[in-house]
Amino acid sequence: MPASLAYTWLGHSTFLFQSPGGRRLLVEPWVASNPACPEHARNVGALDAILISHGHSDHAGDAASIARATGAHVVANYEICLWLEAKGIVNTMPMGHGGTVQIGGISVTMVNAVHGSSAIESDRLVYLGQPAGYVLRFEDGLTAYFAGDTDLFGDMRLIGEIYKPDLAFLPIGDRFTMGPAAAARAVGWLGVRQVVPMHYGTFPFLTGTPAEFRALVEPTGVQVLELRPGETAR
Ligand code: NI
Ligand code: MN
Repeated sequence: MPASLAYTWLGHSTFLFQSPGGRRLLVEPWVASNPACPEHARNVGALDAILISHGHSDHAGDAASIARATGAHVVANYEICLWLEAKGIVNTMPMGHGGTVQIGGISVTMVNAVHGSSAIESDRLVYLGQPAGYVLRFEDGLTAYFAGDTDLFGDMRLIGEIYKPDLAFLPIGDRFTMGPAAAARAVGWLGVRQVVPMHYGTFPFLTGTPAEFRALVEPTGVQVLELRPGETAR
């Protein structure tokens, strides 16, 4: 039987993907201080690439340390790549919205997100470009949309139309991103068969719940994959 995609939720918005072709991608390098990451999952092992949607510390906080430890390529916007290069990271793959890069046989396309992107360095706010989402087309054709941190936006319809994703990873926690109701609307616009909720429950102010999300999405026939941190889905 050919291998299929496997992905492990490391809590919050951090996922470790093992592609059908055996590539290991870490999306949102935040594990060391991620309170939702199980202790046994903090060592992510060998990686081919690290993908970063925006500069906030709950997504990119461990980018430099993991890139240094693994030697993995880092896919991110230009500003985040420059920021990491200043920390001595060499294997960066800067890109912009609408662009596609290849990681082995996987196509990684950067798409829009409605959010911010910055980090605090020595008590100063550093601007880290425009926030993004990613469309990942794996070796077997399976296509996933990883939204990053974002509100619902109308061009999610275009992402559905152009890339025809099978699977989506959507934030539902509210406050800093869309909540369950808007995320449920996104599911319809994207046309996916399966959806993984993320960016909820990590902190008390992220009040959106998978239960609210499921109640809105499951009646439409789309499968909601509610993972526990550390759990792997295939
Ligand atoms: Ni953010
Ligand atoms: Mn966030």
